[in-house]
Amino acid sequence: GEDVVRALKGLWVHVMPGECFGLLGVNGAGKSTTFKILTGEILPDAGDARIAGHSILLALQQARQRLGYCPQADALPGDMTGREVLSMYARLRGVHESRVNPTVEVLLQQLGLDVGHKPKQWKRVRGIMHGAAAAVHKGGDWLGRLRGRSPAGSPAGGMSGAGHVAGTEDEEGGMGGRAVTESGGSLHSNRGAGTAGRGKGRKKGNAGLTSADTACGNYSGGSRRKLALAVALVGEPRVALLDEPSTGLDPGARRAMWSTLQGPHVLKAGRGVVLTSHSMEECEALCGRLAIMAQGQARCIGSVQHLKSRFGGGYMLEARLLPSPPSGSDAGSRGARGTSSGAHDTANSDAGGPEGLPSAAAAAGADDALMDACARDLVQHVNAVCPGARVVECDVTRLEVAIPRDSCSLADLFEVMEAASGPCQVASYALSQCTLEHVFVRLAGGESAAK
Ligand SMILES: Nc1ncnc2c1ncn2[C@@H]1O[C@H](COP(=O)(O)OP(=O)(O)OP(=O)(O)O)[C@@H](O)[C@H]1O
Ligand SMILES: [Mg+2]
Repeated sequence: GEDVVRALKGLWVHVMPGECFGLLGVNGAGKSTTFKILTGEILPDAGDARIAGHSILLALQQARQRLGYCPQADALPGDMTGREVLSMYARLRGVHESRVNPTVEVLLQQLGLDVGHKPKQWKRVRGIMHGAAAAVHKGGDWLGRLRGRSPAGSPAGGMSGAGHVAGTEDEEGGMGGRAVTESGGSLHSNRGAGTAGRGKGRKKGNAGLTSADTACGNYSGGSRRKLALAVALVGEPRVALLDEPSTGLDPGARRAMWSTLQGPHVLKAGRGVVLTSHSMEECEALCGRLAIMAQGQARCIGSVQHLKSRFGGGYMLEARLLPSPPSGSDAGSRGARGTSSGAHDTANSDAGGPEGLPSAAAAAGADDALMDACARDLVQHVNAVCPGARVVECDVTRLEVAIPRDSCSLADLFEVMEAASGPCQVASYALSQCTLEHVFVRLAGGESAAK
């Protein structure tokens, strides 16, 4: 054999505009390597890729210009503030000078980097209560709703028409109208140095400093992750490559990331996203299609629904078993289960069990020899009513069996399970639809175990 490990081989994917494509795989499957090749960080031995039509081999600069990249390990200039970093990348991506600040503010706000550690909503509301006029947030539909309901004499009137992004820093640090005016000015007339420099000077030593105005080297892990994600998205690149963007984010921040991606500036604007994640939930929430990778190769590519029905279609039967008594024999346990006579008869005939079980178990990587006699007995009974049933996982106390769709009557299956109360007892069992995780374990986990 050869000692060379090929981190990536033969991956063919076309990501459409507005599509979020997921790369799943166990550690070392080759996800980050894929991204490193697409960004030109490492050269492929063979093959090519195109970013918005530009070949990474022939026109890397053009390809890179259309790429946003959030690496798995953040590489941020630690002595720059979040605002400064984003403004810099916005300019590098060719955002028009007049759009740099608004672009940056929107991202800071969406990802929750502009608010320090206080809850955003609460602060906004407090701003209104205190009569800080013109605190209208861009896209702030909630304010419109509030305005409609607000009683006469409230500051609502002052808010209409302002239409700029109010720096939350002002609500936090400064008092009332003056600060808000400054913020408004910064967006509409400030040039060159940007809000970052100005804001930093003004706020130096101020207790109201927000995280967007602190050196990002001092950020918490989650904030660094948010900033790295913002860097990948700023300037609206045609394609964003996000390598585990949500790792380390708290649940709220993760939702904010999802809605940022699904929002009007990224997927809805027709930008493509390729992301890696170890969260099945995230992939189901975001990805139209995904690939499950193992050892540098895509094991499958398709929509979540397609993968579920193609590779995990049907149901998953999970049973908790009470360990069998040492003297328990096959004959004994079968006899005890005789209540379900129909299932009992077929289990012993050569049509179902004997043929279906061993091959299915081998195919799923389950070692027949390790299987407890009770589990084996139970599987035979299940196989009798569901000929296509496959053992996915099995140990002394737990049995997981995949039941193909339309392969059997669920009523029969329930009957078998209810009757399984001989010397080997089923403590509990559950029948559920296959999850993406089941598909993943089968296609990615099995491979790594075999390695
Ligand atoms: N610089 C390197 N030198 C040698 N081998 C490497 C290097 N970087 C990665 N590899 C190998 O390439 C394979 C794929 O690694 P890669 O980082 O792409 O995995 P991954 O899918 O991103 O994993 P994870 O989920 O842990 O991030 C692994 O076998 C890894 O050991
Ligand atoms: Mg990786």
